[in-house]
Amino acid sequence: MIKNVFCFYLVISPGLEEISLNEIENKWVVFFPDEKIPEIKTVVGGLEVDISLEKGVLLNQILKIPTRVLLRLKEFKCRDLPKLYNKIKNIDWSPFLTEAPISLKISCHQSRLFHTNKIELTVAKAFQVYFKGFPAKKKYIENAKKFHPTALYIRFDNDICTLSIDTSGEPLYKRSKRPFNGKAPIRENYGAALCFSLKKEIELISKSQSATNFHLIDPMCGSGTFLVEANNWLRPNQERNFSYFSYPCFKLAPPSLFIKNRSNEISQNKSSLFLTSSGYEANATILQKTKENNLNFEPEINILKHDILSSDNMKDLPNGNKAVIFNPPYGKRIKLSQKPTSYYPSLFKKIKEKINPEFLAVVFPLPEDEKDKNIILSSIKPYKLVKKIAFKNGGIPVFFMIFCRQLS
Ligand SMILES: C[S@@+](CC[C@H](N)C(=O)[O-])C[C@H]1O[C@@H](n2cnc3c(N)ncnc32)[C@H](O)[C@@H]1O
Repeated sequence: MIKNVFCFYLVISPGLEEISLNEIENKWVVFFPDEKIPEIKTVVGGLEVDISLEKGVLLNQILKIPTRVLLRLKEFKCRDLPKLYNKIKNIDWSPFLTEAPISLKISCHQSRLFHTNKIELTVAKAFQVYFKGFPAKKKYIENAKKFHPTALYIRFDNDICTLSIDTSGEPLYKRSKRPFNGKAPIRENYGAALCFSLKKEIELISKSQSATNFHLIDPMCGSGTFLVEANNWLRPNQERNFSYFSYPCFKLAPPSLFIKNRSNEISQNKSSLFLTSSGYEANATILQKTKENNLNFEPEINILKHDILSSDNMKDLPNGNKAVIFNPPYGKRIKLSQKPTSYYPSLFKKIKEKINPEFLAVVFPLPEDEKDKNIILSSIKPYKLVKKIAFKNGGIPVFFMIFCRQLS
């Protein structure tokens, strides 16, 4: 008999826990309107929520910020290998696995069991015995071969062993398409988190205006991550596989979202966080590839060639409220033509002159030197800093900062 409620653990990039919690609340009312928002526990690097198996696995299709969704299966005290062996051998794996997991993710902190090789061998032996006694049906074994193998996460923390089954497979920031990555793309889940954070800040500050009345502009759009993520915010990812597709308990029909009336609403351009999304890019080759490979199925997104540092006018700038979001070159993968203390101030000057947005959101590393940092930050004035999130982009510590032209 399978339980009704399971504990799901959502793996979140450190720094994005709060905005990720907001994402679940924002989307729960859209996708599961008949059920009240569940209680969600925030921990460093993750969120925990107790919900039905069906809703838990569907989070993979709905959420854009988490890296993966794990199903917490068992938690028990364990200080020796024989106990681990017996526990694994006696758990009912049949709803989720058809064979011993080939990928074990073992981590040990402050526990008597810390030798990962020995843990791995013990777990492998226990699974061998389990599946000898309870072999999966052939049709489920054949089905499982079509999908990413299901990984088992084994964590020892203070002698407490937690076993979690992966429901996602490939990390969730790997969306279905988007083969072209430009020069230094921002990862999709960061793109989504930052666009959503910008929307939340706009709604908090300009109380009379919804963010859906704002035009989003990326003046250095590269492969267009911000534009695509903002545009597809409410569009579930139904174009890729997830590990849970292979779970035998779903009897070859894994849960999928059937949004009757709402699907029409979503397909009618209402999946976007903003009124429109447009981008500009100086490099003609990047622009062309982004259009051909990434925006082929996104007719709502408009991108044009433009060098923001030039004195040319920007074509087709939308009329009305504008919010700018961008990650400029950091001087690592893309070299800067000048020192950061002159490059960034000239960039902000051009953005103010040419676009004059109500909100300006930017991701970049701030120099450690206080004087240099002040030179860059004061060049953004009279805009005021209203939100700052620190995280790592491609291993580089960066800040996501939202500035507002005037506080009402
Ligand atoms: C760090 S990348 C942005 C990546 C983008 N957010 C993405 O996800 O692909 C910076 C982009 O700015 C472009 N760029 C550099 N200088 C520019 C300028 N003066 N005007 C417009 N675009 C510029 C680069 O060609 C590059 O594609």
